[in-house]
Amino acid sequence: MTPLDIAVKARALFTRSHVAVVVIAVVAGVGAFSAPALARPAPASASASARPAAVSPHATSSGAVAGAPDGASAAGTASAVTPNGLAATPPLGWNDWYSFGCNVSASLIEQTAKAMVTSGMKAAGYQYVNIDDCWLDSQRAADGSLQADPAKFPGGIKPVADYVHSLGLKLGIYEDVGTETCAGYPGTYGHYQQDAKTLASWGIDFIKMDWCNVPFGDFPGLTEQQVAEKLYTEFGQALKATGRPIFYSICEWDPSLQPWTWAPKIANMWRSNNDYGDTWSQVLGNLDQEAPLSGYAGPGHWNDPDILQIGRSGLTTSEDQAQMSMWSMLSAPLLAGNDLRSMTPAIRDILTNRAVIAIDQDPLGAEATRLSQQGNADVWVKRLANGDRAIMLLNRGSTPLNVSTTAKAAGLPAAGAYSVRNLWTNAVTESAGGIAASVPPNSAVLLRVAPLRGSVAGVPPLTDVAVSVPAVYPGSTYQIAGAGQTITVPATFRNDGRTAVTGARLTLTAPSGWAVSGPEPSSPALGSGGELSGTWQVTVPAGTPAGTYTLTANASYGWTGGHAGSASGDGGLQVEVPPSGSPYLDTLSWLSATNGYGPVLIDKNYYGGPLTIHGVTYAHGFWTNSPADLTFYLGGNCTSFTTDLGLDDSDAGQGAVDYKIYADGTQVFDSGVVTNSTPTVHASVSVSGDQILEIVVAEGNGTPTYGNADIAAPQLTCAS
Ligand code: GLA
Repeated sequence: MTPLDIAVKARALFTRSHVAVVVIAVVAGVGAFSAPALARPAPASASASARPAAVSPHATSSGAVAGAPDGASAAGTASAVTPNGLAATPPLGWNDWYSFGCNVSASLIEQTAKAMVTSGMKAAGYQYVNIDDCWLDSQRAADGSLQADPAKFPGGIKPVADYVHSLGLKLGIYEDVGTETCAGYPGTYGHYQQDAKTLASWGIDFIKMDWCNVPFGDFPGLTEQQVAEKLYTEFGQALKATGRPIFYSICEWDPSLQPWTWAPKIANMWRSNNDYGDTWSQVLGNLDQEAPLSGYAGPGHWNDPDILQIGRSGLTTSEDQAQMSMWSMLSAPLLAGNDLRSMTPAIRDILTNRAVIAIDQDPLGAEATRLSQQGNADVWVKRLANGDRAIMLLNRGSTPLNVSTTAKAAGLPAAGAYSVRNLWTNAVTESAGGIAASVPPNSAVLLRVAPLRGSVAGVPPLTDVAVSVPAVYPGSTYQIAGAGQTITVPATFRNDGRTAVTGARLTLTAPSGWAVSGPEPSSPALGSGGELSGTWQVTVPAGTPAGTYTLTANASYGWTGGHAGSASGDGGLQVEVPPSGSPYLDTLSWLSATNGYGPVLIDKNYYGGPLTIHGVTYAHGFWTNSPADLTFYLGGNCTSFTTDLGLDDSDAGQGAVDYKIYADGTQVFDSGVVTNSTPTVHASVSVSGDQILEIVVAEGNGTPTYGNADIAAPQLTCAS
């Protein structure tokens, strides 16, 4: 069967919109899972399905976590302990799905197991080699037992298990509690005992149980959540009855069923989110969804924010490193999803960083909580068994940021000094309590902080430099200037060390050709907590092309014992050209565009046809899928904005959206709820002197509707 045949089969068989994910994975094949731009059934099927919102891969509303305990106080205290005695710490391993889809085989699994050993991953603690969907033959054997696809696994599964075991590793496999797996192979429904026995007899050590093709009709009167709890409990009992210790992973991917509330007593891990792709925003999305769930995880039972995307094509190396930091803070299963046979040394080093793995594997099992979030700056803290704290300073955004907290805020006891170890650079500094770092875009700094045992002598002070490029308007996360503009840029050097630094100097540098003026501050001695600040005028030269530029401040100083020290910090500045004349927005570049499903489309609807509202066709505009958000730079050069708003005629009638327009953060227009029976809405707003225009397509009634919402003929009037 070709991948396309499988896709067609899947499409025909599945009744739930989860099929979208499977079809994409299968068709896209190796390494191409992250771009869900293929046919999305939701616009049509969401309205047809009895369970429209909850089953979509994008139905991840924050309402799904209602009733979560306060993570900060409950972390690590969940009372349920998994009965099988496994998973004292989260599992470490690998899973084939995101990189290989249905191209799984005995040779892939055996080669991967070997690579797990030769790469040093086994030595770093990785253990499980996990087979995902598509390993099965399309039919059960004559006696009703499961059998592997003979082309993919010529000797069946047992010899593969034997080989994996011979390397000192463990073998995981995939099945589904429903009648068929998500890709359409035989499910275990009606065969739980028989299948559990078969898998145990092959030597399986880990099973991932999926949630497709569940015969809800067999359970009249039960909610979906009750059916989930019942079926997963029954399969768990069947596993237990085999007598073989088998790690039990629940892949119930619909967060509205809140598996964290019922799965801890049944299984060793459960999904905290739906499937995702290898993009920074989706990695952040999974992190955010787990933020309220920390209290549910603990030794024996873990939240699962899904397989790692590290080393796949969509993330940069610093994003890969940040995901490793995030998942370790979350006490997440670390299941690599890349091709271990061909990974670069940089990826191997990220996956095998033992100091970071130790944060994930800390025996206390207290998942991190988010201490603060300010704009793009997140601070996360995790309690560790020996009393230390792991602190993650995360920059979610695309410009450099200074991110800070204190040892006290992280819950550490009062101490004369703290040792601060950077787990990616291994550098150790001492701090009197302040903790700060300049964090590059889309990156995380991961620190292990503890009261300093012994003397500070010889330990460098923790210092940092913050560059404050002004926001485009107060409260905005954008730092933007036009060519020719002069901006005022303050920078501050701070000594968080316990001892004074001497002879401190601070300078600011800009890209070559940019004028920087202002006195360079200096100080003979800066005590603990002392700061040295300066302010510079920075002129963006006329003709500077649009793009992102970096301003760097460097501090130099001396510290105890005649040592020389230095610190630097970056600030990011976007240079943009303001629009002129009367442009349609679709002819400009947006600053950002987020969409409920796939990308925002320009001048066409989801199905490729023209934008059409109530029979009127528009040559200019955007197709969005709610919720969506578009921002544009105006640079103070425009006076008014007009647009027509309404659901595209291709919307199947399920959409109920609410358009809002903001100028420099202030709401200047609200359409109210718009459905496809609402007459076309015309908006006309003043944007005089404003820097940023933002158009938001919110859900009309707060719940996901995936409205196919057009922003038609969106036009600015600007100075020429
Ligand atoms: C679902 C799961 C994925 C993967 C696929 C296989 O989408 O959530 O992790 O197992 O099924 O079909």
